[in-house]
Amino acid sequence: MAGIDYSSLIPNNVSLHENRRLQRALEDWQPKFLEWWQDMGPLGFQAKETYLRTAVSVDAKGWAQFDYIRMPEYRWGIFLAEPEPGRQVNFGDHKGQAAWQEVPGEYRGTLRRLIVTQGDTEPASVEQQRHLGRTCPSLYDLRNIFQVNVEEGRHLWAMVYLLDAHFGRDGREESEALLQRRSGDADKPRILGAFNEKTPDWLSFFMFCFFTDRDGKYQLASLAESGFDPLSRTCRFMLTEEAHHMFVGEAGIMRIVQRACELMREHKTDDLRKHGGIDLLTIQRYLNFHCSVSLDLFGSEISTNAANFYTLGLKGRFEETKKTDDHLLKQATYPVAEVDGERIVTREEPALVSLNERLRDDYVADCERGVTRWNEVIRKHGIDFELALPHRAFHRAIGSFGEVRVSPDGRIISQAEWDARHRDWLPTEDDKEYIQSLMQPVVEPGKFASWIAPPARGVNGLPVDFEYVRLG
Ligand SMILES: [Fe+2]
Ligand SMILES: [Fe+2]
Repeated sequence: MAGIDYSSLIPNNVSLHENRRLQRALEDWQPKFLEWWQDMGPLGFQAKETYLRTAVSVDAKGWAQFDYIRMPEYRWGIFLAEPEPGRQVNFGDHKGQAAWQEVPGEYRGTLRRLIVTQGDTEPASVEQQRHLGRTCPSLYDLRNIFQVNVEEGRHLWAMVYLLDAHFGRDGREESEALLQRRSGDADKPRILGAFNEKTPDWLSFFMFCFFTDRDGKYQLASLAESGFDPLSRTCRFMLTEEAHHMFVGEAGIMRIVQRACELMREHKTDDLRKHGGIDLLTIQRYLNFHCSVSLDLFGSEISTNAANFYTLGLKGRFEETKKTDDHLLKQATYPVAEVDGERIVTREEPALVSLNERLRDDYVADCERGVTRWNEVIRKHGIDFELALPHRAFHRAIGSFGEVRVSPDGRIISQAEWDARHRDWLPTEDDKEYIQSLMQPVVEPGKFASWIAPPARGVNGLPVDFEYVRLG
């Protein structure tokens, strides 16, 4: 079953009509959300019909329906994955107890903070991307960014549902505050650093989807393990939407890399700026930037907060239930990279306080797989170049590496060497200006900007030259 009720004002599969208090709270929030969407959502395209996917059920197959709609008419709502009968708390001090359907009183503040921090990233990314429609490299890409944007809007709904359903008045106040903070605003910024950075161009957008949204995937996956069952079910469904965002990022970069390789072969040069392409070194510098700011999102290597979230049963490890240890971790250790004078060394630390680092390791391994696929494209073109993730200590602001200067290959270096070389490693003003100069809209169906290859296939089995957004 797992169908979604679209007959009510707020589409849902949580029998909202049976809970009048919650229904009223959400109906009160809905117009404020729509006002925020009009103010801060994609600029200039709200009235255009876009070929979008809407969730119609929450089971793994067949949950999507495609149709032309205008974004403000997207059916944002509340969709939870189906309950798992007999689900338990699977880790920490409460391991083996029945999973909680209500917030345990003593964990209220902690759990609310976790939900608000996740929730805050969802509208933030919509705000960061709101200008990009005007410089889209194709209608296909325009449709994809709008799909990502409406789903991030729905993720905000997912977190607001939890706040309104389980945290009383505090929850309702937090729901309002989620619509009041603004990405990059000096007075009321979004909570996490990377969500206050600008996303000024499409290269940055694809990097953001690949690196920063992937942090979201790993945070959601650990929250999906939570002993608080409504949070787990909410996050499990969000992950199915998140998979598409990962695809947009990875495939976007792959198409830029492919185009670079084609231009290199055609013109027999690495210097693609005369030919309207983005050279591999520039791609590498953007990669270094987005990877490093996203690594910061996982927090300090050693964190008592992370240990507490785990011990209390609120936030697990990635794929917690697939692991075969004791799920308590009180005796266990975990290898953590640390600064030791002039060197970076790996030391065994207590596993509980190292959970941020462990999640970062899972994330890095996932990023590596994407980079390998990009390099495959370069190799197939017979070009001798490899993209690489920067060392995790490179360009960090949070945790022990925030104190030192580190090269992308993981050497601790002097400030003087950093000053002399950081332009080779991070996007320069020149790079940014050049990328900005490429940002000219291409809106004829089937046409693509000079710096990006067409995708291998279109959306939902449709041709690449389908009119994915009706601009007429
Ligand atoms: Fe999201
Ligand atoms: Fe996302």
